[in-house]
Amino acid sequence: MNAAIYPGSFDPMTLGHLDIIRRAAKMFDELTVSVLDNKAKNALFSVEERVSILKEATKNLPNVTVDSFNGLLIDYARQKNVRISVRGLRAITDFEYELQTAQTNRMLSCGELDTVFLTTSLEYAYLSSSSVKEIAAFHGDISQCVPDFVAKLVYEKYANR
Ligand code: PNS
Repeated sequence: MNAAIYPGSFDPMTLGHLDIIRRAAKMFDELTVSVLDNKAKNALFSVEERVSILKEATKNLPNVTVDSFNGLLIDYARQKNVRISVRGLRAITDFEYELQTAQTNRMLSCGELDTVFLTTSLEYAYLSSSSVKEIAAFHGDISQCVPDFVAKLVYEKYANR
């Protein structure tokens, strides 16, 4: 079985993330999109909310499942018996961090966990969850950044703050 994990914060999931998910789902028999449960990060959405958003967005992709994890990615991947992590690369600015993380994961897993990078589609190259939150916080238009149902949830968060 050709399986992969796409780990991330997904706070919230953007159209860029969804593009990577759709493309990775075509490459692997099974893709698990997994939300890092990082208590240290001050997230806008809870892990449960992020999982629920991802589930809704991927409901028509039969080989995609959504999960969450905490701790080290290599431990989670080992538990699930998966040897490939998928990550999106937007620009050269992502590269240094991603290279370091991928190499650390190879070192920590004794070469068991490899990272496959997909270059983000050009139309989403500018997108990030952080900029979505910043735009929404100032009542800007995020309709080109996230699916409509996600935009609604993001605006609701800021309306209730
Ligand atoms: O969406 P993000 O925030 O860029 O995702 C980063 C993520 C979750 C992939 C990365 O931080 C991660 O895998 N964290 C788990 C902890 C870990 O395994 N760290 C070791 C590698 S340095």
